[in-house]
Amino acid sequence: MRRAPGPKGSVIWGSLSEFKADSLGFLSDAVCEYGDIVRLRFGPVTTHLVNHPDYVEHVLSRKLVNYDKATRSAARIAATTGDSLLSADQVAWKRHRHLIQPAFQPSCFDDIGTLIDTLMGPMFARWQRERSIDIVDEMMQLVIAIAIKIMFSSDIDPQQINAALETVLGDTWRRIEAPVDASMISARLHRPAFKKAVGDIDEIVFDLIQNRRKCAQRPDDVLSRLLAAHEADGEIQLSDKELRDAAVTLLLTGHETTANALSWAFIHASNGFENSDPAHIFAEAIRLYPSIWIIERRVVHDDTINGYHIPRGSSVLISPYLLHRHKGFWPKPDRFDPSRFAGDQPRVRDAYLPFGLGPHRCVGLYLANKIAAHIIERVFGQFRLRRLPDQPIGTSPGITLRHNGPVWMRAEHCEA
Ligand code: HEM
Repeated sequence: MRRAPGPKGSVIWGSLSEFKADSLGFLSDAVCEYGDIVRLRFGPVTTHLVNHPDYVEHVLSRKLVNYDKATRSAARIAATTGDSLLSADQVAWKRHRHLIQPAFQPSCFDDIGTLIDTLMGPMFARWQRERSIDIVDEMMQLVIAIAIKIMFSSDIDPQQINAALETVLGDTWRRIEAPVDASMISARLHRPAFKKAVGDIDEIVFDLIQNRRKCAQRPDDVLSRLLAAHEADGEIQLSDKELRDAAVTLLLTGHETTANALSWAFIHASNGFENSDPAHIFAEAIRLYPSIWIIERRVVHDDTINGYHIPRGSSVLISPYLLHRHKGFWPKPDRFDPSRFAGDQPRVRDAYLPFGLGPHRCVGLYLANKIAAHIIERVFGQFRLRRLPDQPIGTSPGITLRHNGPVWMRAEHCEA
């Protein structure tokens, strides 16, 4: 069977140093040079980058039996999230998916607009006073405040959780990129800052769970829905640890993804697209800057993609970032143009997967879209945002696709 083409790299580390130096640039060059399936080696790990809708559908949906999520990155993320939806263990994953999915039904978020408006009020007042804002930080603060209310109906200081989540995500990405991760041998070898951040999150979340268990009149939020869904099932009660794992997973997966995508939306839409449909603005922002820019699967049985051998024990990488900019499927792919998502525009199925595909498709898809469209509509209803000059804006890919620094914008109030 044929071996897919790809760069040789160095004898020991393969292409690891090129990937670490500029992941997006390296992967973009690789598909340009070698095509839609590229064989890569990162130290001892062999992987295939696949960049075609058919191959992506093959891995994430059609040939599920040949792939699972027991990857290096999943193992490192599990150090924080425990055995929840991001677990490599199929039984644990199924149980949590069955439990969490109902808590994210669209009808659960019918009134979310009012909550978002309440939280945006003080932010808008501050924008009018300060006028120069870092849109990245603003969106981080706003989305974590929304997440805490949706999840726990709590008044805890969002800043407390935000800082801890940032440390956890940064440290986890550093360990994913490192060829060797000592903390996989013993959890005691985690960095002190990481241990402290996880400890801070645990303290807050366990406290919220214990109080909720005692609460006679539970508020309508995700935590209550998780408890109720499980009790109605008549299964064994969810332990505090399982609830904590579910809650932390949702905070980690939902916060930075949505916040970063929103800042990309404002950075680009403020160039004359303010009157476009907010849902189309957001869809276009996560086409060009999909928060989950890379998806990994482990190969559990030998497979063949487009005639190339995909060996058991290796992994497969799918990059929504690359696929969303594939010239074969997107006209003028680098141009920000929300009208691509207007109803009558033709699109290739599975060439757009900001929320993934198959059974692991994002549980927060509806929620993220609803929150984002509401925020975009409200901001552009009241403000014109203008990027301050002399700010080179670049990407800084980690677990999510972040900006490489603050992005300062002038906020001009424009409501009569
Ligand atoms: C713009 C915002 C978001 C983007 C771009 C996004 C993207 C994704 C993607 C691509 C996946 C699939 C990963 C894979 O197949 O390995 C995923 C899974 C997931 N997302 Fe999201 N997400 C967003 C917001 C949210 C929100 C708001 C929540 C919840 C509050 C959430 C919770 C999850 C969970 C729990 C999973 C794992 C699902 C599973 O494996 O069964 N996400 N997300």
